[in-house]
Amino acid sequence: NLILREAYQPLAYGVETVDLDFNLDPQATVVTSRLKCVRNPDAAAGPVVLFGEALELVSIAIDGAAPAEGQVRKTESGLEVNVSADEVVLTIVTRINPSANLTLSGLYQSRGGFYTQCEAEGFRRITYFPDRPDVMARYTVRLEADAATCPVLLSNGNLLETGTLPNGRHFARWEDPFLKPSYLFALVAAELSALERTVTTMSGRDVLLQVWVEARDLDRVEHAMDSLIHSMRWDEEVFGLELDLDRFMIVAVSDFNMGAMENKGLNIFNTKYVLANPDTGTDLDFENVESVVAHEYFHNWTGNRVTCRDWFQLTLKEGLTVFRDQQFTADMMARASDSPAAAASARAVTRIANVRGLRSGQFPEDAGPMAHPIRPDSYQEINNFYTATVYQKGAEVIRMILTLLGREGFRNGMDLYFSYHDGQAVTCDDFVGCMAEANGADLDLFMRWYSQAGTPRLKAEGAWDAATGTYTLTLSQSTPPTPGQPEKLPLHIPVAVGLIGPDGADLPLRLEGEANAGDTTRVLNLKEASRSWRFTGLAAEPVPSVLRGYSAPVILEIDEDDERLAFRMAHDADPFNRWDAAQRFMERVVLGLAADAAAGRKLEVPQAFGHAFRALLVNESLDPAFVAETLALPSEAYLLERMQPADPAPLRAALIHLMREVGQAMQADFLGRYLDLEVEGEYRYHPADAGKRSLRNLCLRYLAAWGGPTAIDLAAKQFEHAGNMTERYGALAALVQSDAPQRTEALAAFHDRYRDDALVLDKWFMLQATAWRWSDAAPTTLDQVRALMANPAFSLSNPNKVYSLLGGYFKSNAAEFHRPDGAGYAFWAEQVVALDRNNPQVASRMARALEGWRKFTPEIQARIRVALEQVAATEGLSPDVAEIVGKALG
Ligand code: ARG
Ligand code: ZN
Repeated sequence: NLILREAYQPLAYGVETVDLDFNLDPQATVVTSRLKCVRNPDAAAGPVVLFGEALELVSIAIDGAAPAEGQVRKTESGLEVNVSADEVVLTIVTRINPSANLTLSGLYQSRGGFYTQCEAEGFRRITYFPDRPDVMARYTVRLEADAATCPVLLSNGNLLETGTLPNGRHFARWEDPFLKPSYLFALVAAELSALERTVTTMSGRDVLLQVWVEARDLDRVEHAMDSLIHSMRWDEEVFGLELDLDRFMIVAVSDFNMGAMENKGLNIFNTKYVLANPDTGTDLDFENVESVVAHEYFHNWTGNRVTCRDWFQLTLKEGLTVFRDQQFTADMMARASDSPAAAASARAVTRIANVRGLRSGQFPEDAGPMAHPIRPDSYQEINNFYTATVYQKGAEVIRMILTLLGREGFRNGMDLYFSYHDGQAVTCDDFVGCMAEANGADLDLFMRWYSQAGTPRLKAEGAWDAATGTYTLTLSQSTPPTPGQPEKLPLHIPVAVGLIGPDGADLPLRLEGEANAGDTTRVLNLKEASRSWRFTGLAAEPVPSVLRGYSAPVILEIDEDDERLAFRMAHDADPFNRWDAAQRFMERVVLGLAADAAAGRKLEVPQAFGHAFRALLVNESLDPAFVAETLALPSEAYLLERMQPADPAPLRAALIHLMREVGQAMQADFLGRYLDLEVEGEYRYHPADAGKRSLRNLCLRYLAAWGGPTAIDLAAKQFEHAGNMTERYGALAALVQSDAPQRTEALAAFHDRYRDDALVLDKWFMLQATAWRWSDAAPTTLDQVRALMANPAFSLSNPNKVYSLLGGYFKSNAAEFHRPDGAGYAFWAEQVVALDRNNPQVASRMARALEGWRKFTPEIQARIRVALEQVAATEGLSPDVAEIVGKALG
């Protein structure tokens, strides 16, 4: 069942107003919907089309009367109602069973409360409706529920009225003054408490902010509230965008498929992205809360006020909103910096995290059977397309527009976008059209980023002519074929370039034909398969620094020997590229060691690498957060992508060898930095403190990898005396990588301390699922994962638990999952099928762990194929999982 982007047609009837009445009951909720349907003059004639799924239709009336014989037709996807008038009122009553809804899409229960998730197509699981984003309507909602179990009744917009009813029930009425598509509808009915704040917006309106959580969690919501207020201020200052409602609510729920959801005025969040205090959340958790809160808040303009015409345009709101939250995070990281260089380094730390995510999450997707452009051309199940490509690569595409147009030009484009399209459901072409129009820019070629899948390769070659003092840089591009796109065309790639002089300082750049030398970083616009640029007036051969700040989402191919990488690790003025030089050096060393391990050769870490690594480790003038990033290994997922063919066992051997050698050889330096970087005083979430803790924990990991008794003692001591979760977790993460008895003790102590804390236990599950095996003992992780599934705190119906334990094992422990006897794959097949019976979205996410199977050695492929075929042959498979395994086997 393939949906095509090209097949888009507006519906014959839209909806002007929606009145919803919910009589909430765990097993039998009755939903009465009154829809004013209006003929769309721009659409071909046709019936009123209503989608419905897993619904019991109680009644339908047309303008208050029973339908005529044959007037309402049941279809595969819902109902069609034949009407002749241009306006008609449909009254539809459905009955649903929230307690049995384990898909977590539509209306469902979590810990006794009622919650909704409607994006992308969950509203049709609540009532019959033209459930498409191009149908925008005004909503009023009445909720009725048991007052004892559901004292809090929330929906979108403004509260109109509350009241009590007989039989212990009560009600509330809500009205959303803004037009919205059905995917932004939400309700919550539960026993919750709120942290509240009143703030004044830039135009002087007082607005009420609420973060709703279970009462026992009230001591961990402060940070989410602060994050919300920071987000509001930032959007006002940077984009001139203000909150448009009198009330803005965030609700945390324990059972949630994704991270969070931007329902108008009523954001619903996975507890993981709301709750954090020093005792339960790491610095990374604090950072994630801040960025997800910002992301959902920013959607109010980029997503809600202007939404998507159809789901193929998903990146219109997601790519743009990820870009906005990344910019916000970078600004928050830099806010405490005391110099421009410090601010640049702080911003680079955010950029590095973004690019790490892209390389380990999006690159594999782009290289596998699910490869798609950021605006896909087809899908079988839209829930499979909330992808790293649509989100992360989509954000990179927006970032390139910023690079091309500049800050002011970009802002002008945004202003024009809102002035043209506020209150509308639009396309990616509309967005880029505004950017072009506001700047008189030609972005026609640039649009190829929206239609072409795959990660482009950018090749850079330099030629030095000493006689004329000219350096010629030739840039060439090519994109490998992806499913359905055998031929690729050149893209418009902005390439930020600098030239480094022999003393390590950046050189002012002068292109041939220019009178004077200008900036030290220039953006070269590559629009053809290959082109050269000549830099003149140079006294000696420079070292190029290409793709500074990661100016385009491509794989840079540049021939650099160890010496040159070490030089850029020491001197590149662009902090991103300095980090990248270190990553490239590590990648080369690790893949070299892996090849040696595969061939049974002796493993030896090159000396030049050790020197370059140590120089960064001991460099106290650098921001510790930045140093921690430069010394952290590339992810295994990314390295597997770079290894041809991918082979997890020798790769793991190489990584372990490298960490051990480095940890041992530099134990004194690691220890020295560890001791120096101790953060005094009470925990606060602050980039400077977080950076120190991050580098300290990295030192501890290398020391624990070496494994000397002093190292294990140090980790055990940090675990015991930790004053916050970042230190406690950092110590546990180091201990888990050892065979020392302290490992078992720490795991037990951690479990005992947090036995009733679901979110913290997720960390405990995750650490055990992702732990490396440092000895030659037989693999045991699978047995441990199975054993942990029997732990009373684990549940297959809670997505966070599945993502931590099963996701950790399938996606972040390659050497264990791909064990040579194939037992990991059999377990994967068993779990995907079990999950799919209740929650196809979660099952599909786990299924995706094996989609990249063709990159592995032939022996590994043969074993994976068995498991894929087993899942594919399962009867009653959801469209979600069927699409993934179908494309994988394809
Ligand atoms: N719009 C949400 C966000 O990015 C994601 C919701 C995705 N939900 C889903 N069922 N696919 O913030
Ligand atoms: Zn989003």
